[in-house]
Amino acid sequence: MAKLRVAVFASGNGTNFQALVDAAQQDRLDGASLELLVCDKAHAPVVERAKKAGVDTFVFAPKEYDSREAYEREILAELQRREIELVVLAGYMRILTPVMVDAYEGRMINIHPSLLPAFPGINAIRQALDYGVKVTGVTVHYVDGGLDSGPIIAQRLVEVLDGETESTLATRIHAVEQEVLPWVVGRIAAGSVSLDGRHVTVTTL
Ligand code: GAR
Repeated sequence: MAKLRVAVFASGNGTNFQALVDAAQQDRLDGASLELLVCDKAHAPVVERAKKAGVDTFVFAPKEYDSREAYEREILAELQRREIELVVLAGYMRILTPVMVDAYEGRMINIHPSLLPAFPGINAIRQALDYGVKVTGVTVHYVDGGLDSGPIIAQRLVEVLDGETESTLATRIHAVEQEVLPWVVGRIAAGSVSLDGRHVTVTTL
């Protein structure tokens, strides 16, 4: 079967990118292949991770462009040149414009560290702690034009313990992210994810 060609967008540490690399190497991505890392920060650790894993990188400096649309058009051309079929946003800390969102509608997913629609946007783990919720978690969803608002593919719960700090909670949330993201990519690669309006069905074998 033809492999699903995947690009990952990330801005920082890249533990989710690493989880995808590890899963691909261990044959846990149902044939998805990681073709490209797109990163907006030349010195982000994720760039080093990609080089080590032998994944090509497209690194750009947003400041060098006149607009978000301008750099997105360049990224899009690169994705099209490489025939990328799925875009995975894994800690990509930039708002997307319709240039990217429309081109990859239904073919772009994001991982977010809360149970959406609670706590969208930045600092979701901090937001959940400050609010005092007893459960939070992880969401993987399709990307639409809104802020963390697209159809939900998978969610996992993480309990908030007494005396929790942002750091202890983040450690457990990240561990869950690193399980669920490769699982979702594998399900998409296997053709087991279907989208009907806001409703997503994932079949497991
Ligand atoms: C992850 O926790 C991801 O859910 C979050 O950024 C972190 C990136 O970690 N994304 C967002 O908050 C998007 N709104 P990583 O670079 O180690 O994968």
